[in-house]
Amino acid sequence: MNLQGKRILLGVTGSIAAYKSALLTRLLIKSGAEVQIIMSTSAFDFITPLTLATLSKRPVFSAFADQTTREWTNHVELGLWADLFIVAPLSANTLGKFANGLCDNLLSATYLSARCPVMLAPAMDLDMYQHPSVRENLRKVLSFGNILLDAESGELASGLSGQGRMMEPEHILAQVEKFFRKKKDFQGKKVLITMGPTQEALDPVRFISNHSSGKMGLAIAKSFKERGAEVFLVSGPVSVSINPGDFHFFMVRSADEMYEASKKLHSQMDICVFAAAVADYSPVEIAPEKIKKNDSEMSILLKKNVDIALELGKSKKPGQLHVGFALETESEEIHAKAKLDKKSFDLIVLNSAREEGAGFQHDTNRVKIFDRDGMKIDSGLIPKSEVADLILDEIKKAPVWI
Ligand code: PMT
Repeated sequence: MNLQGKRILLGVTGSIAAYKSALLTRLLIKSGAEVQIIMSTSAFDFITPLTLATLSKRPVFSAFADQTTREWTNHVELGLWADLFIVAPLSANTLGKFANGLCDNLLSATYLSARCPVMLAPAMDLDMYQHPSVRENLRKVLSFGNILLDAESGELASGLSGQGRMMEPEHILAQVEKFFRKKKDFQGKKVLITMGPTQEALDPVRFISNHSSGKMGLAIAKSFKERGAEVFLVSGPVSVSINPGDFHFFMVRSADEMYEASKKLHSQMDICVFAAAVADYSPVEIAPEKIKKNDSEMSILLKKNVDIALELGKSKKPGQLHVGFALETESEEIHAKAKLDKKSFDLIVLNSAREEGAGFQHDTNRVKIFDRDGMKIDSGLIPKSEVADLILDEIKKAPVWI
């Protein structure tokens, strides 16, 4: 009964995934929440109000006025009543209304009146979900502070396969429980996170880089933000979407740029997490024009890049905490422990580039966290968001805070 006493508004819109809202309602009620459902009228084509009213043990609202009593359904009161407003499934149509402040039904009026946090669980077909107008609307609602319960991948109602399925009700319940559990245990702390790859230019059109997507660094940044910290993100070029309202964001390209941006921030930080996959070498010369191909072989002379974590480790102040990462392919623990010592890390997070589902690009990771006394945790293969929470929990236990 993790949600005992929590008041949840559940918005249901017209989507084939509306059938999942019945299971979601049941799960929320079983977890102790009070659930008030608001449906858009197009949701009636997919699930009946009677089903949802029975499961939620409350009448379902959909119109501004009750058809028989002509009584007004007070959307302002509904918005103020709730501790959390979840819209699942969220159709492209309702997303468009939320993004643009349109208000032509009770659901959109309640959205505009609600003062509580809002979680949105979109459900769309493959190409709809990737359409630039939908992406733009999603970006907009995220910039308002709404929380995205991102669509999952799999088979879609159209028969196509890919991202667009509404997040499974069990996963939504886990997110909701986590949301209410979150303590603001990093309130007042300033955190620097390096993330993503660096790109080392060869000429105006080519570079040396690696496969880092930025997912691990961003997951850590989100977890710190949710737990009350002020987050400074220094990121190489990544494709993950970053909500600019959530962080102080510094976009860099090369290892040198990442070092310069991090160095400027370092002295004000309480915690630094070095999650970036920084290129260790860069070309000695950057050709001013595009290098032309010819028949002979070509060698590129490389010079060593600055080691950001090592350099900043030298000016670490008492009370500052540094967390490093190690991405290894062999003798993993030995290399990770050596980096912990050499770079003055308080903790090091080891992930393996050889393990299925771990390291670059994946939404999951498996990490082992070490401090100077040895291994603290072996996470097993779990989502990067959960890895991030584990890292924060270990940071909290570090002697520097005690
Ligand atoms: O971005 P994703 O696709 O989600 O992938 C996540 C990740 C695999 C990139 C991440 O989990 C990770 O392991 N990041 C560190 C990768 C790495 O470069 O490890 P390393 O063993 O080479 O470096 C050791 C530490 O020194 C790291 O904290 C690194 O950020 C830092 N370093 C390394 C070289 C350098 N020139 N400057 C540094 O600061």
